[in-house]
Amino acid sequence: MLHNRQWLLKSRPKGALRLDNFEFCEQDIPEPDLKQGQILVRNLMFTCAATMRTWINAPGHSNRSIDLGTPIRGTAGGSQVVKSNHPRFPVGTRVMILSLWEDYSVLEPDTSPMPVLAQPPEVKIIEAMRNLNSCTAYFGLLRVGQPQAGETVVVSAAGSSVGSMVVQIAKIAGCRVIGIAGGHDKCDLVVKEFGADAAIDYKHENVSARLKELCPKGVDVFFDNVGGDILNAVIDNIAVKGRVAVCGQVAAYDSDAPAPGLRDMMKVIYRSVTIRGFAMNEFMQDADTARADIKRWTEEGRLKHREDIRIGFENLPHAFMGLFKGENMGTLIVKSGEPDEGNPSFQ
Ligand SMILES: NC(=O)c1ccc[n+]([C@@H]2O[C@H](COP(=O)([O-])OP(=O)(O)OC[C@H]3O[C@@H](n4cnc5c(N)ncnc54)[C@H](OP(=O)(O)O)[C@@H]3O)[C@@H](O)[C@H]2O)c1
Repeated sequence: MLHNRQWLLKSRPKGALRLDNFEFCEQDIPEPDLKQGQILVRNLMFTCAATMRTWINAPGHSNRSIDLGTPIRGTAGGSQVVKSNHPRFPVGTRVMILSLWEDYSVLEPDTSPMPVLAQPPEVKIIEAMRNLNSCTAYFGLLRVGQPQAGETVVVSAAGSSVGSMVVQIAKIAGCRVIGIAGGHDKCDLVVKEFGADAAIDYKHENVSARLKELCPKGVDVFFDNVGGDILNAVIDNIAVKGRVAVCGQVAAYDSDAPAPGLRDMMKVIYRSVTIRGFAMNEFMQDADTARADIKRWTEEGRLKHREDIRIGFENLPHAFMGLFKGENMGTLIVKSGEPDEGNPSFQ
């Protein structure tokens, strides 16, 4: 028998997410008989990413709505094959998957709509998990924002998993970088650890006025993770021919309302601004190039990755909800809390 814990979506929130929108379920299940091509994985690590909040909304308000009564679907998860009927995934293989919030999952790697990626032993699973956000930052900034050396780049949610990478890649590209983040400690992190030239604390400062001071010639590239008031404040200060790479709208996620647009489109016209949304998937064919650059910059010490690791499967909803209060300092990862000492690559 296997002891399987799950976090299910019990109800859809009206407004902000609450703990009672989740249901904890725990039961002993018989070890499944696997069909040809199936594997049984033990899920050991889960990323909590802001984007997942949009999947909790009803179909029509989400591009990947989670069905009520089914496990919460996460972004990258780290798992280990514990039973296999698939030649390429023997027992012990470490895989990165689009995880479900449960201890055990049966997967069919060849037909699964969710990619199941076997990780070579030399790659730490945590490194593989953070690659998704690093690649989002890489492509969103370099392909969509197209910064030139000497330009000014502004990044919102600059202390977040994606944002912290954008700050550093923009510095590598030779730009001046201003991060926007919530609170003194987060702003400190953005400047002292990730290397931004300055940070604006949107919770305590007037963002538009500070941008005016810090960017007298205007903002050339805005990497937008947040939307809402912060997006409007940057558009107030955008340079002629400025580019906005729209990566996320986290300010609108923890509600059932759609993400609002700009309050003054005329600035976009008069300043010849390009606003372009993107999803990381559209650049997947070039992911190897991105991963190689990211690996090299990391080895050279030019790119720092910060994880905020919590322990305990039972803590998943609480940790996830904290994202919308800015409680995470780096990529938020929850480890299931099961002993994995025998497997150092999971640490
Ligand atoms: N386009 C794509 O392909 C793609 C892929 C991955 C992620 N994304 C997007 O990238 C963005 C960052 O994701 P992530 O996973 O890096 O984030 P994360 O590490 O989960 O951090 C989220 C951060 O957002 C900030 N935040 C939360 N609520 C906010 C609000 N109401 N107003 C302003 N800031 C708020 C908080 O930082 P503070 O403490 O600074 O408030 C929080 O720490 C999200 O919008 C996500 O949807 C897009």
